[in-house]
Amino acid sequence: MSTGVHEPLLRLGETFEEVMARRVGRRSFIKGAAAAAPLLVVAPTALAEPSGADTATRPLGGSNGLTFKTIPLQSGEQVVVPPGYRAAVVARWGDPLHDGVPTFDPLGQTPIQQAQQVGYNCDFLMFFPLPPEHRGRRGRFGVGWRRRGLLTVNHEYTNPELMFEGYNPESPLEEQVNIELMAHGLSVLEVIESRETGWEVRRGSPFNRRITAATPILLGGPVAGDAMVKTSGDPNGRLAFGTLNNCGGGITPWQTLLTAEENFNQYFANNNALPESDPRRAFHERYGIPGDASARRWELFHDRFDVSKEPNEPFRFGYIVEIDPFDPHSFPTKRTALGRMKHEAATVALSRSRRAVVYSGDDERFEHIYKFVSAKPVSHVRGHNRDLLDEGILYAAKFNDDGTGAWIPLIAGQGALADWTQAEVCINTREAALVSGATRMDRPEDGETNPRSGKVYFALTNNTARTTPSGDAGEDAANPRQPNPHGHILEITEQDDDHAATSFTWEVFILCGDPDEPADGTYFAGFDQSNVSAISSPDNITFDRRGNLWIATDGQASTFGANDGIYAVPTDGRGRGFLRQFLSGVMGAEVASLVLAPDQRTLFVSIQHPGEGSTLSDPTGPSTRWPDFGAGPPRPSVVAVWRERPPFHIGA
Ligand code: FEO
Ligand code: CA
Ligand code: CA
Repeated sequence: MSTGVHEPLLRLGETFEEVMARRVGRRSFIKGAAAAAPLLVVAPTALAEPSGADTATRPLGGSNGLTFKTIPLQSGEQVVVPPGYRAAVVARWGDPLHDGVPTFDPLGQTPIQQAQQVGYNCDFLMFFPLPPEHRGRRGRFGVGWRRRGLLTVNHEYTNPELMFEGYNPESPLEEQVNIELMAHGLSVLEVIESRETGWEVRRGSPFNRRITAATPILLGGPVAGDAMVKTSGDPNGRLAFGTLNNCGGGITPWQTLLTAEENFNQYFANNNALPESDPRRAFHERYGIPGDASARRWELFHDRFDVSKEPNEPFRFGYIVEIDPFDPHSFPTKRTALGRMKHEAATVALSRSRRAVVYSGDDERFEHIYKFVSAKPVSHVRGHNRDLLDEGILYAAKFNDDGTGAWIPLIAGQGALADWTQAEVCINTREAALVSGATRMDRPEDGETNPRSGKVYFALTNNTARTTPSGDAGEDAANPRQPNPHGHILEITEQDDDHAATSFTWEVFILCGDPDEPADGTYFAGFDQSNVSAISSPDNITFDRRGNLWIATDGQASTFGANDGIYAVPTDGRGRGFLRQFLSGVMGAEVASLVLAPDQRTLFVSIQHPGEGSTLSDPTGPSTRWPDFGAGPPRPSVVAVWRERPPFHIGA
């Protein structure tokens, strides 16, 4: 509870539970701590890992059906999974999508080839089932058909220093830049279960599609047609060219993909060329557009990335983009009503009145958490939902220190936004949220809804700049650690369990770190920390159908000196907080996304930027040539993980 007087976060001798109870001062936290107490009397053997390889049919005490053998932190060049599980690459950078496309040749790469191959730096994954293919044989799972679906893969960004031999960042070649443009965006891939390799891409499938940094994309919602998004290439302000830095995402109830444009600022240059009196200059500064040259130098070859020549072009990026993966000829649309930010996540839930509610984060230190509530209900007729996300109310979250919270509507003409237009709100969303009193968070990344409880979970990756309790973001119980190098996860309960509610309560679910390091001040929902895994920088999350939370990390190389990984943790019952590591990624890589197939038998995982920190020419640092280990470059890839024996389910 905020007293208005500065209190130290930790008092000598206090347990973390006592600190949280004092600071948060609410019944729910005390209740959570008390509920956890009986765990302390459970015999250690009941909580210990099963010994030996896949003993997985025997449930662990408090594991909520999560029976895998915990793996330790790793630092090698291979994906590591527990005994009894297998991992294999499904798709890697450069794999051809269509018949007749040449095999990947890193020395002979062209933009046209790249536009027909899997792009770079795999990120958000989503799986859309297709009717199974009958093959007249018994498949691996004892049925006469092979599972198949559409796997969508974001390609967040490029590492040209790992793509091209002798790449010169000061002076890239035009061909290299154009290959990079084509390596951005996302892929839609038809994938089919393979007896030999787990899953493979069906090359030549009519569903296969690349969307790149040059694909025409409609602007929808309040920003469409506004003067601020008109450019010489699009004088009507209704058609953007490409999508950039696609990081997180989501799936709608009507089976379209939402993909989130995150760090779009890095592609633009020369904001300082705009006069100080031009309000666009401050808008661009707020989003981190460089004052002079960009690090990528795309502006050397494409005027639209030079703000001095096209000052409105950055206003056309930073949105949630909706794509119909089942129609390869459909136009994607940027849904500007959901605001413009370094978008992370676009997790859709249905409200009690069947409104589509889209949760999103703005992944920068001290930025905000948002949700959008559609004006109209979701229709059972798919086509009726086509532009549903163009109209509704955008909210930003305010977390009160007493464990309550409010969703603040960002509506032009109201409150602090009295002088704004809605197009301005949807373009300069960060400032709209700030002046409206939203809470400044520790890098809000992914949000997900628990299929069992309906609660909403948000991963806050980390924030080393939150250096004092009353620092530039103010004292804040929802971001309770200063600094916060390991991040945390919040659990939000909407009022009346209605996702359209304008108020909520919240808890800290996990404060990440090494439980063996008292200085980390870790907290695992009150669970006995002697058996949990060390975890840092929670980034992307998903749920299995029993309500266990699966967490991918981004940053353990710098905090633990170890590879990023995937962890699973029950959110309910006596195992609530019993977090354990399931998978380890590859040296230099981030585990950027994870999604379970609906039947829970495959976990698809993105291994992003393997070898980052080294270059192709100079293998000093975390160098790897994963997954091929030949003379060629490392290749960001999607990996499928499955369990080799019954009951096959990965999620509990
Ligand atoms: Fe692209 Fe916020 O990670
Ligand atoms: Ca997710
Ligand atoms: Ca990420």
